[in-house]
Amino acid sequence: MHFSFVEKLGLSVLIGAWLVYGTNFLGSTLVSVTPHAPAMQVAAKEAAGDAGSAAAAAPVDIMPLIAAADPAEGQKVFGKCKACHNADKGGANQVGPNLWNVVGGPHAHSATFTYSSVIAGMHDKTWSYEELNAFLTSPKTYAPGTKMTFAGLSKPQDRAAVIAFLRGQSDSPLPLP
Ligand code: HEC
Repeated sequence: MHFSFVEKLGLSVLIGAWLVYGTNFLGSTLVSVTPHAPAMQVAAKEAAGDAGSAAAAAPVDIMPLIAAADPAEGQKVFGKCKACHNADKGGANQVGPNLWNVVGGPHAHSATFTYSSVIAGMHDKTWSYEELNAFLTSPKTYAPGTKMTFAGLSKPQDRAAVIAFLRGQSDSPLPLP
């Protein structure tokens, strides 16, 4: 069978139009289905009584944990920090700065330590309980490029305890939340 040039052209335009229509149709079908998927998953989880995953996704309110924390427990957690930090009054800087007076003080609070530019650049911010909690959760997420090569404390209780301990390592401890 022989097709003329015009017939071939007509045929390919037809096939082309067909493909475009088909792809569009498929695309819109797929896209319109996607928004329902998470809702279905949530519904399924609720049906299964999975409350834990929702709690894990929500940010932790660190304040009540700090108020209830035992500084003595925090001193134990501080064992993980001791490789780099001293927290005594007048203690020397080590790999990291001395941490006396850090809670409630400015970022880069030590005048004698050479900070990374990212922490030095935050000098007008205060090490509040919330800021310390965020930093200690993941130092490099909080301050990309920080010299503190420490993965972070994943347990909120550990962060609360070490913050409660550091709070006491100060000439004028910040009021408890
Ligand atoms: C591997 C060494 C290392 C470990 C372990 C470490 N740090 Fe650090 N830390 C540093 C360094 C270095 C800096 C300075 C960061 C910069 O300049 O970017 C720092 C900075 C800090 C700061 C900010 C000080 C300021 O003056 O702004 C706090 C607070 C802090 N560390 C707390 C802790 C706590 C609490 C732990 C333990 C849970 C800990 N660090 C573990 C090395 C360490």
